[in-house]
Amino acid sequence: MDKLLIAGGIPLSGEVAISGAKNAALPLLCAALLTKEPVTFTNVPHLNDIGTMLKLLAQMGVRVTREAEKVPAGTHSAGAGDTVTLDAAGLNNAVAPYEMVKTMRASILVLGPLVARAGEARVSLPGGCAIGARPVDQHIKGLTAMGAEIAVEHGYVHARAARLKGARLFTDMVTVTGTENLMMAACLAQGETVIENAAREPEVVDLANCLVAMGARISGAGGDVIRIQGVDALHGATHRIMPDRIETGTYLCAAAATGGEVRLTGASATSLDAVIDKLMDTGCEIIAERDAIRLRAPPRLTAVSIRTAPYPAFPTDMQAQFMAINAVAEGTAVMRETIFENRFMHAVELIRLGADIKIDGNTAFVTGRPKLDGATVMATDLRASASLVIAGLVAQGETLIERIYHLDRGYEGLEHKLAALGADIRRVK
Ligand code: UD1
Repeated sequence: MDKLLIAGGIPLSGEVAISGAKNAALPLLCAALLTKEPVTFTNVPHLNDIGTMLKLLAQMGVRVTREAEKVPAGTHSAGAGDTVTLDAAGLNNAVAPYEMVKTMRASILVLGPLVARAGEARVSLPGGCAIGARPVDQHIKGLTAMGAEIAVEHGYVHARAARLKGARLFTDMVTVTGTENLMMAACLAQGETVIENAAREPEVVDLANCLVAMGARISGAGGDVIRIQGVDALHGATHRIMPDRIETGTYLCAAAATGGEVRLTGASATSLDAVIDKLMDTGCEIIAERDAIRLRAPPRLTAVSIRTAPYPAFPTDMQAQFMAINAVAEGTAVMRETIFENRFMHAVELIRLGADIKIDGNTAFVTGRPKLDGATVMATDLRASASLVIAGLVAQGETLIERIYHLDRGYEGLEHKLAALGADIRRVK
């Protein structure tokens, strides 16, 4: 199993390109199931999760074509991403098997589009994961309200509906993939669907934009009430996937923690307000350009308290990276995780690097230390891994991070991008 070896202590400096967003790409690829015409996506990141989703769609009869995006000679191509065309005309197997769903929970995103287009779907229940139980009851509740007959049998959700009917849907909590699943299903339903308490994440808006380009009638995406007028069929479209705001935030944190100065290209500051605000509170200087973000770190960061909550508040997917920042900042931070019940797994690993962290339920108290010391640590989930990388970049001596397959799920070319910013980092087999 691959590991990452980092020799810490080098301030990051230079420029790096941000990739397309994993969490936007995953639902977008599933949206192609909704039409018989080809849908083309550009800026698709090279990630294991994307590979898993394409494999899942291919075994359903979707034709997948992947080609390199044409980048003009001399321009910065790293992270420019690829072009993927999906043609679901031959959709013939509306099943998402356990073997695939267990490796990637986002596979549940095929459920809504499959029932809407094929009238039937069998999707394995995802089960729990390292950060919490993560049920999909809200996805099921919404589809049931739209007239789907749903049975959970042998570990699978079996959903059937000759044609879904528009309905008023209310989710018990804000759920990102739940909102996306129901919004996709509603596009082909008969009549109007209203999703209340909808997730407002930028990835939901990116999906809605693509669906509208495919002929869907959606209004309100980005707010907490989304209205969808069902149509009989959707058509093909071309859509560029938005920049990855969590990847962007992660590199900003890495630059901040190491006392560096970086410019991230192909990035958007508009979806990162809460994160940028907190980075400015740490003492970083941040300049948002039209298509790039610059950060310059102070000699020592100031600790910042955070509380995670649905967008536009501070994202849970950035909590671990800020814990690494607080571990080396001046002062004590109180960090509250309100989305997932078990998302402090990185704390014990950060403590192995010398961090001062106390956990009480969903709250972490982090007191900054002037330095961390390299050690061997273990990655437990995607964003936890990112926080260990950041801590390793700061720590004195060598840090060896085990189980980095989590990073390969969600960060395109992580070690290459960090090396381009001057880090001493390499993958060891
Ligand atoms: C998405 C993101 C993930 C991010 C999370 C929260 C993708 C592919 N993944 O995950 O990176 O960390 O949003 O911003 O976009 N819940 C239920 N029942 C449901 C659905 C959700 O109880 O049917 C709970 C979850 O367990 C969790 C909370 O609601 O506690 C929010 O989860 P949700 O927004 O659904 O997360 P995901 O969409 O899985």
